[in-house]
Amino acid sequence: MVSSNDKKIKVGMIGLGTIGMSHLQSYLFLQEHAEVTAVCDSDPDRLEAGGRILEDGTRNRKHELHMFQNYRKLLDLPDDELNAVVVCVPTFAHRSVAEDVFKRNIDMLLEKPIALTAEDADSMIISHFDADNSNKREQNPTLVQVGLVYRYTNLYRTMASICRYGKKIGRPMMAWCTKFRDMDNKLWYYSKNKSDSLLEKNCHHFDLFNWFIGSSPSRVHAYGGRHVFTDDFFKARCSYLGSDVESLDVHGADINDHAVCSILYESGAVAQLGLCLYLNKNFPGYQVGVLGTKGGHLTARNDSELVMQLGEGEANLETVDVDISHDGLAGGEIGIYQEQLEFVDCIRDRRPIIANWAVARSACNVSLACTRSIEEQREVRLEEYHNEEVEEILSSRLSS
Ligand SMILES: NC(=O)c1ccc[n+]([C@@H]2O[C@H](COP(=O)([O-])OP(=O)(O)OC[C@H]3O[C@@H](n4cnc5c(N)ncnc54)[C@H](O)[C@@H]3O)[C@@H](O)[C@H]2O)c1
Repeated sequence: MVSSNDKKIKVGMIGLGTIGMSHLQSYLFLQEHAEVTAVCDSDPDRLEAGGRILEDGTRNRKHELHMFQNYRKLLDLPDDELNAVVVCVPTFAHRSVAEDVFKRNIDMLLEKPIALTAEDADSMIISHFDADNSNKREQNPTLVQVGLVYRYTNLYRTMASICRYGKKIGRPMMAWCTKFRDMDNKLWYYSKNKSDSLLEKNCHHFDLFNWFIGSSPSRVHAYGGRHVFTDDFFKARCSYLGSDVESLDVHGADINDHAVCSILYESGAVAQLGLCLYLNKNFPGYQVGVLGTKGGHLTARNDSELVMQLGEGEANLETVDVDISHDGLAGGEIGIYQEQLEFVDCIRDRRPIIANWAVARSACNVSLACTRSIEEQREVRLEEYHNEEVEEILSSRLSS
């Protein structure tokens, strides 16, 4: 619990890789609200790099910065040094770390996707619920925020609110995303028993579709495979993360390097996503768009601009005025600063989380259903992911 005479939230960070470092940077902008009291990475070089950034960037540190290679030691810190953790370990390790966090009885921001499989994700939701019950937290549950960072950007919040009020473009009935990009610089991303392309890269976009369309996804059909990633050897360029990032030698890749996915919603709305993981950098075509029953469309381009067209021709194409100055703060994916700011606000005020289990579970299940559709060459219904116990937990938490 946060003590009343020390209002800053004390945060521990577990995993200081690519995204962990962006989260860590965001805390340098949030020093009035929170202090990072502990960092952990199993890799000593990452740990030292993260520790150095924090030591150099923190003003008026009130608590010693603890540094650990074993996250369980971080979780052993007492309540006056630790109120919450930010978990940025690779996806395949989310479940084991999260289950220890639930037992520790503190709030958590868990990077997306929830887990590598639907079974792991559901079991985590049940473990969270059980741990809160045994810690007598039924009335004041510990908070879990999943890193669906676009939910915290002005760009996509503006888009969602135009969709919700429907007057301009009409009811949103078609959505699309073209995520054509280059490769990753970590080996675990290339292995099917540790990663899943559509889950890793597109749970964000499936979540945007769910949010904009405002209905439940019911069926998917997808095609995909490997055009470039080979099961013997290839050199991954990795330019997605910057031109200075070194290429990576990859052996035995077995994940999809491309896919096209179609999703049907209960409302009759449809959405389509294209993924490519082998495109050279600088293709200007990353788009997320939605089209409404009045014939208008809203299109976000490259996470940085929103255009709307309500009538025919270029003359009716307008750029929507969105203040995105905070969206890119702290680097990494857009929205990280606001995501962390709202996380600490929710902890302090015990407010409900926006990117909660239910939202994240639906986005994960659509991603996994698309991968299953590719593997089994058939349409997949989302009801295949039905889990009565989990759905009861989620609806009881939403109504409390
Ligand atoms: N929200 C976003 O937009 C976004 C973007 C990128 C990655 N992610 C997610 O963040 C997670 C991490 O991705 P990444 O690209 O930063 O990976 P990464 O490999 O760059 O970093 C992971 C870090 O965790 C450390 N680690 C691994 N196991 C550990 C353990 N048991 N204890 C302590 N440290 C451990 C590793 O040493 C590494 O430094 C993934 O789930 C990924 O899907 C989210």
